[in-house]
Amino acid sequence: MWISLIGFMGSGKSTVASLLGERALLPVVDLDREIVRREGAGIGELFRSRGETGFRAAELAALNALAPDADLVVACGGGLVTTPAAVARLRASGCVIWLDAPWETLQTRLAAAAAAGDDRPLLAAGDWEAARALDGARRPLYARAADFRVRTDQTAPEVTARRALTRHVAWQRQRAAVGT
Ligand code: S3P
Repeated sequence: MWISLIGFMGSGKSTVASLLGERALLPVVDLDREIVRREGAGIGELFRSRGETGFRAAELAALNALAPDADLVVACGGGLVTTPAAVARLRASGCVIWLDAPWETLQTRLAAAAAAGDDRPLLAAGDWEAARALDGARRPLYARAADFRVRTDQTAPEVTARRALTRHVAWQRQRAAVGT
């Protein structure tokens, strides 16, 4: 069963996924890294050569290559929720947790990551108003895809990971109780 982490860029998915994997003794798949490995090209390069549509296809293919019955933590890219087939796959394979933070926190983290050389093509133009609008437009998608929302701006990543795991365990118990 997967524990999938969704949320906007900068919400802390990769950091929390690796802590969650340690805590739950589960392997972690970072979907962006998996795409790069499978395609032999960087995220920016894929956006440039195939456009966002081509990137989304590669993203869905990388997701579909993961065994649905494997025990895994999956850190998803921020835009995965725009692909309905990907959301259906996440939901059919386990528990989906939305890592959330207010825009101001996301922007601070993303600006620091960009200064450190992060490859995020959707932020490459440095248009923070557009990025903020994208966050706003995606919030309903995260809300609809997720079983739970956990904030990442109020606690240390270790605490967020513990909370996410607690949610997952509760979700598993509930499913076992109703026999699904
Ligand atoms: C994207 C988020 C990125 C990466 C790509 C597109 C998005 O992942 O998949 O740059 O559309 O929000 P992170 O959320 O891990 O930065």
